[in-house]
Amino acid sequence: MKKIGVLTTGGDAPGMNAAIRAVVRTAISFGMEVVGIEKGYSGLCDRSFVKLTSRSVSGIINEAGTFLKTKRFPEFKESEVRKKCYKNLLDESIEGLVVIGGDGSARGAYQLSSDFDFPVVLIPASIDNDLYGTDFTVGFDTAVNTAVSAVDKIRDTATSHERTFVVEVMGREKGNLAIEVALACGAEIVIVPEVKMKRDEIVSLLKEQERKGKTSSIIILAEGAGKAPELTEWLQGKLPERQIRYSVLGYIQRGGSPTYLTRVLAAQLGAAAVEALQKGKYPLMAGVRGEEIVYVPLSDVVSRSKDIPHKHLEIIRNMAI
Ligand code: F6P
Repeated sequence: MKKIGVLTTGGDAPGMNAAIRAVVRTAISFGMEVVGIEKGYSGLCDRSFVKLTSRSVSGIINEAGTFLKTKRFPEFKESEVRKKCYKNLLDESIEGLVVIGGDGSARGAYQLSSDFDFPVVLIPASIDNDLYGTDFTVGFDTAVNTAVSAVDKIRDTATSHERTFVVEVMGREKGNLAIEVALACGAEIVIVPEVKMKRDEIVSLLKEQERKGKTSSIIILAEGAGKAPELTEWLQGKLPERQIRYSVLGYIQRGGSPTYLTRVLAAQLGAAAVEALQKGKYPLMAGVRGEEIVYVPLSDVVSRSKDIPHKHLEIIRNMAI
């Protein structure tokens, strides 16, 4: 394989730049040329191509975001659009593609590869950590640390005012981000879409914790399980004697210099993705399981869903006494 393309697509995640850097430098070490494709699949469609050299990726390992830019491109679901993209790849003599992104990106990568038997390998990169087959996605550790730092600050004021705070975190339809933030922050309650929780149960838990002497509480709410302002208003109605406030962490969870763990994962998966293309192994996702870098068939990634860490949920409950 003499020439590959690389693109970032979907929601950006810290570590995407580190992953691009690893792809470019690994490919060049194999004697390959690398084409950067700007703005994800939309750039593939518009031929927004840029030749990447080793110097193109200098000084970016510590930078959040993606210098290739990203963009949501639902049009990629249309076969005619994918056909145009495939032609653009051929016209540019690109023989393989590394896609860096999350679950939507995985579906696009699998579809492109299946339509044309074209070599595509995915590097899982998303703050949601919602991809089957890998323990972690690039960016997740950084997002958790960003959220933990924010919740610690909210805990300061909650304690001072003896207030209850509802903190809404990202994660789209999944609770992985919320659970790890709750565990790391010692949150009293975590609410995720995967576990149905009656609202009256939240009230009972808060009352029980108060009976045990707790004068303030943090409730971590995954955005897929509700909206903080609405839940706060409902709780305040049920507990008029309490002061209940909320914070929506929002897009700060997508920024920030990638952590050590994010950077190392990005480097490992970037190298593994290019090695897979070099060996003609596709369509795959390069992932991590324990200490091992693994290859997961993209067909599994797009057809199976990742479970949440139930053990962590149990620990959160047990710690909130
Ligand atoms: O998938 C990453 C993510 O940050 C989700 O957690 C969030 O729900 C979504 O992207 C927000 O999408 P957008 O950036 O398009 O508003």
